[in-house]
Amino acid sequence: MSNQIASREQWSGAWGFILAAAGSAIGLGNIWKFPYIVGENGGGAFVLVYLLCIAVIGAPVMICEFALGRHTQRDPVGAFKALAPKTSVLAHLVGLAVLLAGAFLLLFRCWGWGALLIGLGLLIFRHGWVLVGAMGVVAGFTILAFYSVVAGWTLGYVWKAAAGQLDFASVEAAKAHFVQFTFNPYWAVGCHFVFVMLCVLIVYKGIKSGIERWSKILMPVLLLIMLALIIRSLTLPGAMDGVRFYLTPDFSKINAGSVLTALGHAFFSLSLGMGAMITYGSYLDRKENLFSSTLSVVGLDTLIALMAGLAIFPAVFAQGFQPDAGPGLVFLVLPTVFHQIPLGAFWAFLFFLLLLIAALTSGISLLEVVTAYFVDERGWKRHRAAVVFGGAIFLLGALCAVSVTDISDWTRLEKLHAVLLKVFGSTKASFFDTLDNLSSNWLLPLGGLFISLFTGWIWGTKHALDEIRHGSSNFGDVHLISLLAGLKDDPSHNAGVHVVTLASLWGIFIRFISPVAVLIAFLHTIGWLKLT
Ligand code: PFF
Repeated sequence: MSNQIASREQWSGAWGFILAAAGSAIGLGNIWKFPYIVGENGGGAFVLVYLLCIAVIGAPVMICEFALGRHTQRDPVGAFKALAPKTSVLAHLVGLAVLLAGAFLLLFRCWGWGALLIGLGLLIFRHGWVLVGAMGVVAGFTILAFYSVVAGWTLGYVWKAAAGQLDFASVEAAKAHFVQFTFNPYWAVGCHFVFVMLCVLIVYKGIKSGIERWSKILMPVLLLIMLALIIRSLTLPGAMDGVRFYLTPDFSKINAGSVLTALGHAFFSLSLGMGAMITYGSYLDRKENLFSSTLSVVGLDTLIALMAGLAIFPAVFAQGFQPDAGPGLVFLVLPTVFHQIPLGAFWAFLFFLLLLIAALTSGISLLEVVTAYFVDERGWKRHRAAVVFGGAIFLLGALCAVSVTDISDWTRLEKLHAVLLKVFGSTKASFFDTLDNLSSNWLLPLGGLFISLFTGWIWGTKHALDEIRHGSSNFGDVHLISLLAGLKDDPSHNAGVHVVTLASLWGIFIRFISPVAVLIAFLHTIGWLKLT
């Protein structure tokens, strides 16, 4: 492990850090995914559940990640190495459970999964908590591979909108065009390549003059474009039907599945569970306030997701479309909506540019996790790490890009398919879906679960709080009632023993509520727990 900590770069101040972290959080998840899952889960009631998940689970876990990063000033693997005890009973128990599960699967002749779990169990025994950081680095790699494919489609659509080619009279015509575009490997892989290059160029430049500088330019542009789109959308005749759908809660449409979808999405949207926020926190000075920075990042992320709904639903309803079109809402329905609006090509261009900017500031944070690991732990030069892993991510992403075209239909590669079927069971999903599923449904929730458990029970909330208190002017220690009443600085309201403080609430959430909620969501997603 190299000792570069003394010369480690830092953000120039709180705003640079907040905008970069908000840039990581605000991405395709906010503008592409949030509106369509709201559409599929019945509108306003889902929005409320999502807000609750953000407040009760998302924000507390984000504080953990920032504290872990800032305290250790290292990448996720280094952070766990620095704080994990030599032996941990909890880690051994998890290792044992995984080994037993592997042995059980072998008994039932599931050779592939069985061997995989046995290997994983042994790794857990050997490396313990450090594996949580390693899982984050792997997740950064795999998420960026498929994320940059969708970002590449967005880039292509910016180009097409500028050339006036996104003009469709019907959703069918938009769909035919989208399929033709994404099935064309030259376009799909070419756009993916350009997007990864942009990420590499920014990460290559480093923290201050790369990530921070571009976040400071791109985030205000994003906000301005979003405002323009909202005004356009809300002033269309019939727009209020969309607003009503979006903001009127109908709790009959909420079930356990939608609550867990909201929780999973809160993690993805806030970039939690894989160490992106540990990495960004590691470049932060100890004099900055972690509580208020977290509130700003969470607030900005939520604001942009809510605004995206306000830009999209009124326009969709005004033009007589349905809100539950799923993942195609943005690529299929919106171009058709723009077709019916005066100066549609211009609005389409602005919308896809917005999506591209959001994807770019998230993409760089994913590449930064991988880069930081190789710089901090392996002693690589930043330039080399960014280029080498940018290249590797491009190759993996190129496989993803062609895996959703017809040339890669896995069932056509009969021999390979037969082998995979033998080893892992069903492999009908495309490579793209497999990577998405692996990272969003497995790596992020497990990462979130273990980060909460580690902070709450191993590193300890007391030590974490000591870190959080640096620069917070004891913000978290004010009695909650005094804080809400605006009496935070009044000595007589702020003396004595404080029981219900932000800090104590945070400790309870991290030790009990987050791990249990995330575990339930995880078991539900992988199908081991059936909740209706
Ligand atoms: N938060 C990003 C989004 O909402 O699109 C996705 C993401 C970025 C997830 C970075 C995880 C991460 F580390």
